Amino acid sequence: MNIITQHSLAPHPLPVDHYPTKEQAKTSMLFSPIRIGTRMAKQRTWVPAMVPWRATLDGYVTDAVLDWYRRFALGRPGVLVVEATGISDIASGALLRIGSDQYIEGLSKLVSVVKEASEGETLLFIQLIDFLPIKRRPSIDKFFGKYLSITDIHRQWFRNYYGYRTQDDTSIRDALMSQDDACWQVVLSRRDYESLCYGYRECITDVHLSRIQTLPQRLPFDFARAACRAKQAGFDGVELHYAHAYTMASFLSRRNTRTDNYGGSLENRVRLPNEVLVAVRKQVGSDFLVGVRMLTQEIIEGGSDCSEAIFYAEMFAQRQVDYISLSRGGKFEDAKQPNIGQVRYPYTGDSGHECIPAVSHTQSPFGLNVEDAGKVRCALVDRGYHHIPVVVSGGIASFVQAESVLQNGSADIIASARQSLADPDWFRKLSMGLGREIRRCIFTNYCEGLDQKHKQVTCQLWDRLDLDEAVSLDITRKRRLTAPQWNPSCDDQNTQSHS
Ligand SMILES: Cc1cc2nc3c(=O)[nH]c(=O)nc-3n(C[C@H](O)[C@H](O)[C@H](O)COP(=O)(O)O)c2cc1C
Ligand code: SF4
Repeated sequence: MNIITQHSLAPHPLPVDHYPTKEQAKTSMLFSPIRIGTRMAKQRTWVPAMVPWRATLDGYVTDAVLDWYRRFALGRPGVLVVEATGISDIASGALLRIGSDQYIEGLSKLVSVVKEASEGETLLFIQLIDFLPIKRRPSIDKFFGKYLSITDIHRQWFRNYYGYRTQDDTSIRDALMSQDDACWQVVLSRRDYESLCYGYRECITDVHLSRIQTLPQRLPFDFARAACRAKQAGFDGVELHYAHAYTMASFLSRRNTRTDNYGGSLENRVRLPNEVLVAVRKQVGSDFLVGVRMLTQEIIEGGSDCSEAIFYAEMFAQRQVDYISLSRGGKFEDAKQPNIGQVRYPYTGDSGHECIPAVSHTQSPFGLNVEDAGKVRCALVDRGYHHIPVVVSGGIASFVQAESVLQNGSADIIASARQSLADPDWFRKLSMGLGREIRRCIFTNYCEGLDQKHKQVTCQLWDRLDLDEAVSLDITRKRRLTAPQWNPSCDDQNTQSHS
């Protein structure tokens, strides 16, 4: 087995780990059970949602999806969360969907596979997401020739520039196309200029569009129906995706300036997320788990910070949320300009770094969200909501780190995405006193690069391992689609001391 313990070229070396013996693991907080709503998680280990780009183009579960989740389940984390799954039947590439009853059959299979592989030890949730349309960055020809709606402002500009009036939009388009960036910045509206440079993106503040204006009427129903399907498919719970760059997070954002009752003040911004939570709970009853994933901070100019997160957590606690999972950043607003033909990716700017932090950044990627998670948890406990577990993620990938976060009360549960991708057995190895066998994530974000290109996500560390005959490969036929198997020997299973 290829074991990588340090990434020597990285500006931020991996935290040195101390691997517990089997006995030490047994008495640790990380491997102690915790109540989540009406259920018990066997340990405080959690694999958060990660899209693998393995569904069919119309959102159905494939064999590759089953293999992906089976592999995580073999590591038997306390909780496994299935990727962001669309609640509306909208085309979104190879991502899972749950927007109509036809998806239930495939999702039921997924549940069976996970329950069998984890021998019933892992609770399985599915993340429910709504997102708004976003388009690729257009070429200049396409933007001016096709997408731009010609208005009186453009007609007036033409008249001033050429000295005569025209009603021929094609002439105006051609004239604008032949200008330079300085002119476009002046003549185009802020929104059109942004669409030219980054690609068109719909926002929750586009209330002139009736589908946007009516989101508050539609979304509680759509989320509730999707949650009902998840329950029918056999999941233990749903996670409402209120984080990152998507619709619900945009309602919570301090940059939500809607002037109906759903924007502006804190109370207005949380109104729809509250209504969705209440509608979902009403639909699924009190036995089925309902959690929320939200941000501690948006990390964008004028964005929400931890004071909002504390307020929102309390609002959701009052409405019977079963857990709060905390992420950070991941916004479109500061995303880098995509190449022509590519879509804006919310994990590229500073907010992206704080969401999926990499060693290449000036700021260390480890434990970025822990301090804020501690503030949210402390506020919940102070207000009497100590029974609602707080889950924290973001660069937590060693036993020492994880255990200290739990011991100092910053969170109740540790979510590790990329470390679990690099080695889905890592929690299990720790619990068995076999920490030295862990394939440690090196936080270079090769996996995130694949996600950005909507390619099947894999880990660069798997590729270095010898491929055996039985392995399924990605479409390039070069990379394995799941982590290599790990079979602890009998000796390993009896191991007592590996520190
Ligand atoms: C490939 C990839 C896909 C992801 N997909 C999702 C997703 O579907 N939903 C979500 O809330 N977060 C998603 N995330 C973010 C992770 O859940 C996690 O918050 C982030 O990677 C930071 O945790 P880590 O440092 O343990 O990796 C994704 C991350 C990666 C690397
Ligand atoms: S590809 Fe992703 S999971 Fe694998 S080592 Fe790199 S950052 Fe970690």
